[in-house]
Amino acid sequence: MADALHHIVYISRASAPLSDAAAAALCRAAAERNRDAGITGLLLHDGTRFIQALEGAEGAVRAVMERIARDPRHHAIGYVSDGAVGARQFGEWGMAYRHVDDVLAAADFLATVKRSVAEVEEPRLLAAFIGFAVIGRGERRRDPVPR
Ligand SMILES: Cc1cc2nc3c(=O)[nH]c(=O)nc-3n(C[C@H](O)[C@H](O)[C@H](O)COP(=O)(O)O)c2cc1C
Repeated sequence: MADALHHIVYISRASAPLSDAAAAALCRAAAERNRDAGITGLLLHDGTRFIQALEGAEGAVRAVMERIARDPRHHAIGYVSDGAVGARQFGEWGMAYRHVDDVLAAADFLATVKRSVAEVEEPRLLAAFIGFAVIGRGERRRDPVPR
């Protein structure tokens, strides 16, 4: 029997700012591997933190999460959710990215995130992603120095 549908959602802190090229490379590699593994989800990066949802067969999700958790490009992983799901919340694999020092792009980032989660029905997942996008904007206003 095929593995049950499973999802993992986590938030982490970037170990160093990602350049555009590095973010694009991460995204490209993740998209390719996730497609091969039948994994859908969303990765957001606001310049300092990541939030990512991975969904697919349980074995595939756990395998990719194990690799991601070992990746030195981020640390301080906190799990938002890890469990069985009845249906996929993301139709495909996506990523949205915003520079920490790009104030004007903050509203665009939120709009992009809202579009990316338009099909998500699970309230907890919606709240996690929208909250992430909003908090990133708030912190940016209070603290312009990237950490
Ligand atoms: C924030 C973040 C998210 C990532 N997301 C994925 C992903 O969704 N799928 C994936 O295959 N790799 C992802 N990676 C890359 C993996 O950590 C890892 O580098 C890659 O899977 C290759 O693993 P390997 O070097 O053990 O073969 C992500 C890395 C980071 C830092």
